[in-house]
Amino acid sequence: MKFYTTTYHSDLIKDTNRLSAFLEGIIEVSNTFNNFKNIDKNNKINENINENEDKNNENNIFNLKNKINFEKKKNSRIALDIGCGSGVLSYFASKCFDSVLGIDIDEKIINYAKKSFFNAEIENVSFINDDASSYDFSKLFNVSNLDNDSIFEKFTDLIICEMLDTALINEEEIPVLNNIQKYLKNKDNVKILPKGIINVAEPVFMEKDYINYEDEEFHGNKPQYEILGGPVKYLELNFLDNIDPAVETVINFNLNDFSSNVNTDNFDNNMNKDLKSHFNGIKITTFTLITDNILCGPTPMFNPPLFVPVPNINTVNETNNSNSNYIKNEKKHEKNISLKLEYLMGGGVETIKTKIIN
Ligand SMILES: C[S@@+](CC[C@H](N)C(=O)[O-])C[C@H]1O[C@@H](n2cnc3c(N)ncnc32)[C@H](O)[C@@H]1O
Repeated sequence: MKFYTTTYHSDLIKDTNRLSAFLEGIIEVSNTFNNFKNIDKNNKINENINENEDKNNENNIFNLKNKINFEKKKNSRIALDIGCGSGVLSYFASKCFDSVLGIDIDEKIINYAKKSFFNAEIENVSFINDDASSYDFSKLFNVSNLDNDSIFEKFTDLIICEMLDTALINEEEIPVLNNIQKYLKNKDNVKILPKGIINVAEPVFMEKDYINYEDEEFHGNKPQYEILGGPVKYLELNFLDNIDPAVETVINFNLNDFSSNVNTDNFDNNMNKDLKSHFNGIKITTFTLITDNILCGPTPMFNPPLFVPVPNINTVNETNNSNSNYIKNEKKHEKNISLKLEYLMGGGVETIKTKIIN
């Protein structure tokens, strides 16, 4: 199938690791309903797509041939794809579900998605351009005699919500999930994909003295860094739970000796290279629980690890250098450090705060 997309959504489509994880997840969930239709192997995703192809038509609205009737029929399966972008996950779902509805806040990509599916003559998928964090989902269904808070379990079988980014800090996954919660009473009756995430932090000696991603293609050269201790899981979220977007946690690290051959000559940090051990930041990695059986780590376009500097280390008293921006471990044995980490999920990286507390 040929997808019309923006440059950003085209990059998402090219990330085949990300796509395979979600395709497997959609197939796994739909198999639990026993109605999986074979995905046409000839229907390959066209990777050579960008917005220029459709410059002249980008403001047109492309209506699908037939509007989907979202009234739930007996034995029919309905999937929602929230933050659907180009509709690539809607496309996978269209092979396994009777009806699929995609929603995205970006008008341009919704118009492209409508065009792609119209041209491909896929008639069981429709799209809405709206903000899913405030959208009134009762408008979709004929629910006059029903409580709003059970709409999703009565009318949908799968909710796909791939609006993820590392630690869910920039994207609006959590505000959107919290809106979805209003329409869910019995969570056993609906499936969500991904199921949740696991966040892990590692203490590092990092190159930059500002927040940056380990993502060569989109954020410049890959940053250099040295891992100084074992990973610590600090947050696990199940997407069907009520989730407080404000994260406030204390992470306990064991620091090891600084040992590698990282070349620090070009590091932004004003650091004393004689020191054998440094701690000036954390690396946050997000693992996505697509389903109970599929755990997906970072892929090129999916959750590149995030480096966060730890600026106020002077409160830890092991250094002789009061101006130092790092920790010196003169004894060269493991050292315990407690770090307070705060941020608002959906609030952007500017909400991140770190502080050594012990
Ligand atoms: C990481 S992209 C994923 C796109 C698509 N799910 C895919 O797998 O290719 C996240 C998408 O969420 C959309 N989005 C962000 N905030 C939204 C909101 N509040 N309501 C609806 N869509 C939103 C963006 O426009 C973007 O297309």
